[in-house]
Amino acid sequence: MLNKINLWKSSRKTLSIDERIEHVLKQPIPNHIAIIMDGNGRWAKKRALPRIAGHHEGMRVVRKITMLANKLNIDTLTLYAFSTENWKRPKQEVDYLMGLPEEFLGKFLPELIEENVKVCMIGNNNRIPEHTKRAVQKAIDKTSSNTGLKLNFALNYGGRAEILEAVKEISNDVRNGKLIESDIDDECFSKYLMTHNLTDPDLLIRTSGELRISNFMLWQIAYSELWFTDVLWPDFKEAHLLEAVEAYQRRTRRFGGIHSEESQK
Ligand code: FPP
Repeated sequence: MLNKINLWKSSRKTLSIDERIEHVLKQPIPNHIAIIMDGNGRWAKKRALPRIAGHHEGMRVVRKITMLANKLNIDTLTLYAFSTENWKRPKQEVDYLMGLPEEFLGKFLPELIEENVKVCMIGNNNRIPEHTKRAVQKAIDKTSSNTGLKLNFALNYGGRAEILEAVKEISNDVRNGKLIESDIDDECFSKYLMTHNLTDPDLLIRTSGELRISNFMLWQIAYSELWFTDVLWPDFKEAHLLEAVEAYQRRTRRFGGIHSEESQK
């Protein structure tokens, strides 16, 4: 087994990115990848740059990773771009972060359209500035009939807030007779979440060495495979996404059951 892993490690080093893509495409691909893009601030600090320089570099990485995810035929890429807790940051940083979707889409929307990418968003629109909402809505509208990767931005998103909203809507529907209590199961509950039209993430990636979930997709990641890396988000390269997908492909998912070979014993 150890020999097999060493062989795989050394062959991976010598393969080009295109060869690795070809390889990865021969095995089941995660349908939905969610990423906690962390480490922008530390990346900037290491270079004696302001934190926003890290966020700007992070935005460039978003483009690269989106294009690779699309090439890998991944159905959905959800990116944690701004959490419900990020409002606690200094105003200047919040304003900068809220400007990034507009900058990103201003530069790359034509490319996203060309590449058949469909832009979506989860999160609460209430505190998001008008200019940000407008830019995201324009991208959603212009890509609504695209059939490639769903690029799903989590903006002003929090897992607990999402669950609480769902609970309120469900109670309302029960009160109004639209729903009966005994019908509330996993599938029914999922329909009340912001991700009702998406499958749950198969793979959750967090960069920067932090081993936390930080209120991200709490319901949806119940059975996701987790992959953590010390690499800071602005340094995250195509090779790292491939490494995560390769690791995913070596895992056995059991969803609380047992492996099918074992069940035949
Ligand atoms: C966490 O790093 C990162 C964020 C809060 C923002 C993530 C946003 C981007 C990567 C750009 C998004 C781009 C688009 C197009 C919306 P941190 O600032 O907490 O880093 P630190 O832990 O090193 O301080």
